[in-house]
This record gives sequence, structure tokens and C-alpha cells, in this order.
Amino acid sequence: MSGSTVPPPSSSPLPVAELHLHIEGTLEPELIFELAARNGIELPYRDVADLRARYEFTDLQSFLDLYYANMAVLVTEDDFATMTTAYLRRAAGAGVRHAEIFIDPQAHLARGVDLATSIGGVARALSTSSADFGMSTSLIAAFLRDQPAEDALAVLEELITMQAPIIGIGLDSAEVGHPPSRFTAVFDRAREAGLECVAHAGEEGPPGYIREALDVLRVSRIDHGIRAMEDDELVRRLVEEQVPMTVCPLSNVRLRAVTNLAAHPLPRMLEAGLNVSIHSDDPSYFGGYLDDNLDRMRETFGLSPATFARLAANSIRSGFLPEQRQDELLAEVEIWLREQPET
Ligand code: ADE
Ligand code: ZN
Repeated sequence: MSGSTVPPPSSSPLPVAELHLHIEGTLEPELIFELAARNGIELPYRDVADLRARYEFTDLQSFLDLYYANMAVLVTEDDFATMTTAYLRRAAGAGVRHAEIFIDPQAHLARGVDLATSIGGVARALSTSSADFGMSTSLIAAFLRDQPAEDALAVLEELITMQAPIIGIGLDSAEVGHPPSRFTAVFDRAREAGLECVAHAGEEGPPGYIREALDVLRVSRIDHGIRAMEDDELVRRLVEEQVPMTVCPLSNVRLRAVTNLAAHPLPRMLEAGLNVSIHSDDPSYFGGYLDDNLDRMRETFGLSPATFARLAANSIRSGFLPEQRQDELLAEVEIWLREQPET
């Protein structure tokens, strides 16, 4: 499979659902400088180029250090809305027709930014995504697994009390040494409150964390999950239950979870019959949005239009969206596939 035999991408982008996107990971360097100036914050970088030069990561933690530091520029509700609208505009151009967006409320609380400001700003921008970009959207509050579970539970209670506009909860941040089971009470409470449950697992952490996320947290979707491929029995189970797995190829390369794109397990995951779809994680840090992830996978593996249609359909069926909207988007994927040149 070589890049040279792959037909050029069609002019209309593949219609997809973005299910693994940290809104704070969409802050482009230019916007970081713009927001810093707006808020009178002095950044420890000379300029945009100096900041961009630091986007060389050795592992998840080396990225998280910069990701949390750069959040300092998000101060007002308007800042959160500006960041979100910039993402929506870029995502609409990438073919994203539905987006379920993570926010890290604890990272903002720790800096003295309350939930009404962070959640309120993002939610305000999302509330016009249909009218402005034809995109359905929803918000998921992710808890930091390297912080105490009691803190997560307290924040969850506050979110429930204030009737925050979220559809679910997630679990992210540094994975190794922070198994899902520590958060059982948080996920039980979320389910009781009618919230959807997802968790990062098997990004850097072992396959056992994926099992825990399924059996103990009872999540309905696994974020990343690539290390499942080290465990045949787990793969059989994930295939049988068709558990959605939100895979982020450029992220995995940039955080060195895989050595390079050619070594990425996605083709093997598809071959095994797993319910995988492609997403962008933190696109401004990892060199590309959802369309870039798809393009790079096409160039690297020569995946066929039918395979991309399968990946897109998986993303749509794995979303927490009404059946009627799913059917609408699945029909768009069918139309896209018919428009593709014969291979
Ligand atoms: N927070 C933002 N991006 C993340 C990732 N790739 N893994 C875990 N936590 C994150
Ligand atoms: Zn993620």
C-alpha cells in the first residue's frame, strides 16, 4: 500500500462525528497570544514561533504540562466562547457534522475560574452551532484522573445542582498509575443523574484499564483504547460487544504511544472487527484536525473510500445523538461514498 496509488481526496469532506475533542486542545498559538493580550497576561514565550517550537512531546505528561499551562489565557466567559467558535468554524470545514466536546472544568477551577464561566462560555458558543455551522453539538465534562476522586465527586455535584448543560462525563489526564476503579462513585453518581459515561483508557495505560472502565465504571465508549490490541481476549470481547473506541492517530504519534503513523494499529483494529472511529483529541497541539487525521491515514495506509465511509458511520452510530439525526448523517455518508471516484 503506497501513497502514490491513492486517489486524491474528493472536494467535499467526509461527513463525520467528532467524539474525542478536548476544547482546550484547540487553542491555536495565535489565539493563545490574542487572549493573553486581551487579559494582560505575559506569556513565557517570545512569540508564536517560539511557542510552536515547544510542541515536541516525549509522552502524555510532557504534553499535559504545556496544555494546562496555556489554559492561563482563558479568563472570561467570552474567552471560552471565542475558543469554541474558532473550533466550530475549523471543524465545519473539516466535515464535522456533529461534535461531542470535552471540557476539563477542574483545570479551570484550580486557576480560580468558576464553572459558570468555563462551562457557560463553551455552552454559549455551542448553542448556535446548528444555526451558524449546521453542526449538532454537546458537551461532556471530563474529570482529571490524577486528582482525588473526592474532588471530582464534589465538582460533579455542583454541575448537577447548577443543571449544567452537559450530556455526560469523561475521565482524562495522566493515565498510568491512575486506574479507572478509583472513580467508581463518580461514575455511579453520574449514571444516577442520567448522564452518559465515557473514559480514556488504554492510551498509555494497560489493557486492564480498559476492562475496568467497562466493568467498574460501566462506560459506553472508550477513548483511545489502542493498547487493547495487546490482549486478544479483550479484543474478542470489544468486538462482540461492539464497544465504540475513539481513536486519535496523530495524537498517538505525537505523544509517542506509537512510533510512527505506519505502525498505528488502526488497520489491525478494523481488520479485527472493532467499532473504531477517527478523531482529533487536541488538534492544535498534534498537527491536525479531523480531516488531517483522515488524510494522513489515507496517505499512509491507502484506505479505501468504503473504509472511510465505515469509519464515518461508526462515528455517527457511536454518538449520543437522536436516531433521526443519526439517520440524516448516515445518509450524507452514503451520498459522499457514491461521489467518490472508482478505485
Ligand atoms: N487531556 C487532553 N488530551 C488528553 C489526552 N490525549 N489524554 C489524556 N488526557 C488528555
Ligand atoms: Zn483525549
